[in-house]
Amino acid sequence: MADLSSSVGGIPLVSCVYNASGPRTGSSAALSKIAASSAGAILTKSATLEAQNGNPQPRTWHAEDNKASMNSEGLPNSGIDYYIDSTTIQETLEACPNGTKKPYLVSISGKTLQDNLEMLDRIAKKISEGEPIAGVELNLACPNVIGKPIIAYDFDQMKDILSTISNKKYKFILGLKLPPYLDSKHLQQAAAIINDYSTLVSYVVCINTIGNALSVDEVSESPFISSNNGLAGLSGPAVKYTALANVRQMRQQLKSEIDVVGVGGIESGTDAFLFLLCGASAVQVGTCHWKEGPQCFDRICTELQQLLNEKGYTSVQDCIGKLKSWS
Ligand code: DOR
Repeated sequence: MADLSSSVGGIPLVSCVYNASGPRTGSSAALSKIAASSAGAILTKSATLEAQNGNPQPRTWHAEDNKASMNSEGLPNSGIDYYIDSTTIQETLEACPNGTKKPYLVSISGKTLQDNLEMLDRIAKKISEGEPIAGVELNLACPNVIGKPIIAYDFDQMKDILSTISNKKYKFILGLKLPPYLDSKHLQQAAAIINDYSTLVSYVVCINTIGNALSVDEVSESPFISSNNGLAGLSGPAVKYTALANVRQMRQQLKSEIDVVGVGGIESGTDAFLFLLCGASAVQVGTCHWKEGPQCFDRICTELQQLLNEKGYTSVQDCIGKLKSWS
């Protein structure tokens, strides 16, 4: 059977498929189900400094044909202390199969730079006390904080954040969750900034949802989503092509020591394979996990293994970044 193992920013993964931060990641009960599945790692919901309920309901929508979804959740979460608490981590990791321990990754999305620094300090303290937190995914791409821009579209703010965090000399592995760049020049600018901080940033995750989307109900003649005037982040199969393009170009633009993780519309082993070809070292599953539940990890891993076997690849490592040019 083909070997599905990989690594992200030096963190070893038994399987290159794991969950995206977002749906079904807010509690230790939900995280335990991911741990018990074939997912290669467990990633929390993006935490803010304090617990919060998020935006008013309804704030999610799935297209009837299942090709697109939207959310304007507004970061409902239990607050950073919950996700780095020993009980939460222990309960989650105890669910890993056969006494194994998968990497436990914490996502953060502070409302301010100060909040992010405070959360990073708390994480560093927990790690120094022996808490098994394998890495941090800093979300610079949430499209649903009402009145605030997406941080990683504001290059001055992005530089400021990376420079300030870099000065803190944290020892843990840091990844950045990025928004989709719809213009190659913007993507190149973002990559150049990240390359300047290659000692800080071990990996990037492409892409968060495509922000500023609107779904309209022909019956009520109003948006399906109530918060933020119906504006929301688009996800699911509709974003797969944008995600593939971002992964491919980030892999080409970033220094080789910075890994790329692919996320956006992955629903099958074939989808995962396409992201690997485009240069992803691992893939995350968000909307499909939301709709199907954690059994999606078992199914996608089995499908990926079958596909690799059929194609004669013995491991995931053999196909990462091997997209052929058109001939
Ligand atoms: O689409 C998203 N929704 N991306 C995020 O980063 C956060 C999430 C939310 O809670 O709004």
